[in-house]
Amino acid sequence: MKIMVARSAGFCFGVNRAVEMVNELLDQGKKVCTLGPIIHNPQTLEQLAARGVTIVESPDFVPADSTMVIRSHGVSQAVYDSLLEKKTEFANATCPFVTKIHNIVSKASAEGKTVLIAGDSHHPEVEGIRGHCSGNCYVFKNAAELQNMMDHFPINREESLCVVAQTTFSVSEWENCLEIIKRVYTNATIFDTICNATAKRQSEAEFLSRQCDAMIVIGGRESSNTAKLRDVCMKNCTTYLIETADELPLAALKESECIGITAGASTPASIIKEVLDTMSEINEGAGQNLMENNAEGN
Ligand code: F3S
Repeated sequence: MKIMVARSAGFCFGVNRAVEMVNELLDQGKKVCTLGPIIHNPQTLEQLAARGVTIVESPDFVPADSTMVIRSHGVSQAVYDSLLEKKTEFANATCPFVTKIHNIVSKASAEGKTVLIAGDSHHPEVEGIRGHCSGNCYVFKNAAELQNMMDHFPINREESLCVVAQTTFSVSEWENCLEIIKRVYTNATIFDTICNATAKRQSEAEFLSRQCDAMIVIGGRESSNTAKLRDVCMKNCTTYLIETADELPLAALKESECIGITAGASTPASIIKEVLDTMSEINEGAGQNLMENNAEGN
């Protein structure tokens, strides 16, 4: 059995930075709460909870003696305003790539442009981006929804548009959406804001899943980027989404000749290692067979 691991599997820069920020505050002896879970990984959340980190659902509920950490998804302008107004102590772990989108849409709104966001309207990152738009703003989750939206709420063809994407949006779906936008609107400024880490992760997942007969995607079931990876892989081979090594479908995997492994942006290296260790139990000599995916640029 051959096992190939995607080079991009695991923590991305933004998630790593956010988790480190929480740990640094704890090391300084601060009481820490996060606005929503800092990461879509139950095991890391448990470790942080053991260090006393609590989760609040609103900046209104931050305990007086705590520092609140804004996670990598970012927040709306209204949340910043509320934190400043209440003089709440906070640390900002918004990923710089998300902050860049906030700046783009805020400027575009100020210039009177209508903002189109490709993404999941219920995802906190998209809610945050939306919350930096002061004018018209529409969200669509795929090309079909965009087309439907344009049919029912026609936006003037000459209207000045600014188009951005959620950082974890599917690269192929983004291309489908742009095709529609470019066909209809002559005055659209398009910003490709899909994060490089996401694009690379998806491209490696695509590459691996085409070569393997089974793919294991490790990541939280609540994680948007993990779900996208599963969707990419499912098109090409049998795909299992697991959160921990305990969930590995060992019996089914024994039948596979080539297994690919990737992991979402919130998956710690320790969990990936556990999965690999468990795989080696069903595949004597997996250590020698273990290959790193060399899909860079694919
Ligand atoms: Fe940032 Fe990209 Fe990760 S936007 S949070 S580095 S997936």
